[in-house]
Amino acid sequence: MNRSIDIIGRSAAIQQLREIAQKVAVTDVTVLITGETGSGKEVLARFIHEHSRRAGKSFIPVNCGAIPSGIIESELFGHEKGSFTGAVQARKGYFESADKGSIFLDEIGEMPLETQVKFLRVIETGQFQRVGASETISTDARIIAATNRNLHQAVADMNFREDLYYRLRSVELQIPPLRERGSDILIMAEHFVHEFERKHGIAFEGFSPESAEFMLRYPWPGNVRELRNLIESLLILERGKKITPDILEKHLLQRSRHKSLVHDPSKTEKNELNLIYSSLIQLRQEIGEIRQLLQQVISARQAPTSPLLLPPSSAETRIAEAPPAEEPTVPLEETEKRSIAAALRKYDGNKRKTAQMLGINERTLYRKIKEYGL
Ligand SMILES: Nc1ncnc2c1ncn2[C@@H]1O[C@H](COP(=O)(O)OP(=O)(O)OP(=O)(O)O)[C@@H](O)[C@H]1O
Ligand SMILES: [Mg+2]
Repeated sequence: MNRSIDIIGRSAAIQQLREIAQKVAVTDVTVLITGETGSGKEVLARFIHEHSRRAGKSFIPVNCGAIPSGIIESELFGHEKGSFTGAVQARKGYFESADKGSIFLDEIGEMPLETQVKFLRVIETGQFQRVGASETISTDARIIAATNRNLHQAVADMNFREDLYYRLRSVELQIPPLRERGSDILIMAEHFVHEFERKHGIAFEGFSPESAEFMLRYPWPGNVRELRNLIESLLILERGKKITPDILEKHLLQRSRHKSLVHDPSKTEKNELNLIYSSLIQLRQEIGEIRQLLQQVISARQAPTSPLLLPPSSAETRIAEAPPAEEPTVPLEETEKRSIAAALRKYDGNKRKTAQMLGINERTLYRKIKEYGL
């Protein structure tokens, strides 16, 4: 059994969470994990999967908040050929792919109401239908859901079904925010220091006692993710130098400025432009390589060295004699489409990795896949 995932921390809250997680892991009960962003919900879900009899099988993470509502059902339950425009072939959904393994439904509060009915049926009976199919399929997928939203409020606002809420809440694991975990903050900092010392080959001189106190007082709005990212940039940018509160403050300030940039809505547009530029550069390189290859073939055919070589055809001679051709203009959309298709192929259709590699968010990727019929 692969048990490489550990939940770091010695605080009473984390020890208790680890114990409960181990107990529920050996059953197939549906679990709801709640906690602020970056607090370790996915880590806990993987921990449960790896401590279950399903450990050797797939663990499929699905971010319900990133999938547009129009295609979420076909993503989760699969679809039959021709069930909607663009469904050129039948496709398995995540519930089928997670059969015998576990499915991790992140941001469950974002699931559309009409999908919630079908999801509740899967929890209760393990059964569902592909979009456009009449046949019922069964899955033996262990369901772990997570949210950083207040589902109780979502129920009050009629955005989340009450029956599903109570069904999910029967086993709820609440991860406390990092600021409430006391000295775990320093234990985790230490752990990440070792990780990044090894990864980047940097020797770290340590934290001053004042900077340790600073970390214990800081509210960590981004939780463990924020701590981990901070440690990595501290090690790299300060080159292992001893950390004082001033240095910590400087880096935290820079990171919060950067974060406000990330939340700038125009960022998505910038990312899309970057994608188009990088695709254009790639296309330009490819055209250059094709031109070189073509010239090599033509000059090889023109050289009267081998009787085996055929004389150049008049068309080839024309190419050889013509002034260098202008690069054909390819519409930007075509370039973008090819680039997305290539990235999807490279990552075996994994949308999360593909979006990361292309520097766009998952929601944008889904929109483009639909737009280009990929
Ligand atoms: N207890 C832990 N031990 C080790 N690493 C952790 C722990 N908790 C979180 N991390 C690390 O912190 C980062 C964020 O964790 P994770 O993705 O599980 O958070 P999350 O709660 O799912 O966040 P989000 O709400 O944004 O989806 C990851 O890099 C993860 O490896
Ligand atoms: Mg997560």
